[in-house]
Amino acid sequence: MASGRGSNFQAIQKEIEAGKLDAEISLLLSDRAKAPALAMAAAHGIDARALPYDKNDRAAFERAAGDLFEQAGCAYIILAGFMRILTPEFIDRFENRILNIHPSLLPSFKGLHPQQQALDAGVKFSGCTVHLVTQELDAGPILAQAVVPVLAQDDEETLSQRILEQEHRVYAEAIRVLANKEPA
Ligand code: GAR
Repeated sequence: MASGRGSNFQAIQKEIEAGKLDAEISLLLSDRAKAPALAMAAAHGIDARALPYDKNDRAAFERAAGDLFEQAGCAYIILAGFMRILTPEFIDRFENRILNIHPSLLPSFKGLHPQQQALDAGVKFSGCTVHLVTQELDAGPILAQAVVPVLAQDDEETLSQRILEQEHRVYAEAIRVLANKEPA
């Protein structure tokens, strides 16, 4: 699931196409019809769909999304820049089968603008975290992390870019580990 740019989606797909990750992306779902990730997925021949998202009825989007994932036989749901909070019902329906990537070293800097939060806190290292999604935001079991230095001249954009390069590496790595296991 992706809401925007789709660079994490693309990095994962690249690993698959290079034969380095034994997985298949059956479906790319977005909450935003204009998300660049959708066109990117379609260009790779992946079923890519936007579903209407009403923040007053999140359950309707999630029911439709969940049904599509089940019909497609997805073992895992990979959140790749999906910027909506999932309801407890959806998380329960796919317990231990939803992964997220977050651009900070969790449990530090949960929620929005984690790179700016890291700069504001004056930390010397930040990074990214792949974790299982549980009811508590950005707090599920950690599957993988990568660390980057925070440089004196960094702003949100330069730090985000340095972290993003590691996201692209570490997300595929975490999926590679899971792909060799059956979901719990
Ligand atoms: C990534 O940096 C990802 O970690 C972040 O959104 C960006 C999506 O980029 N996700 C979150 O902050 C989730 N809380 P992408 O669309 O190019 O993959």
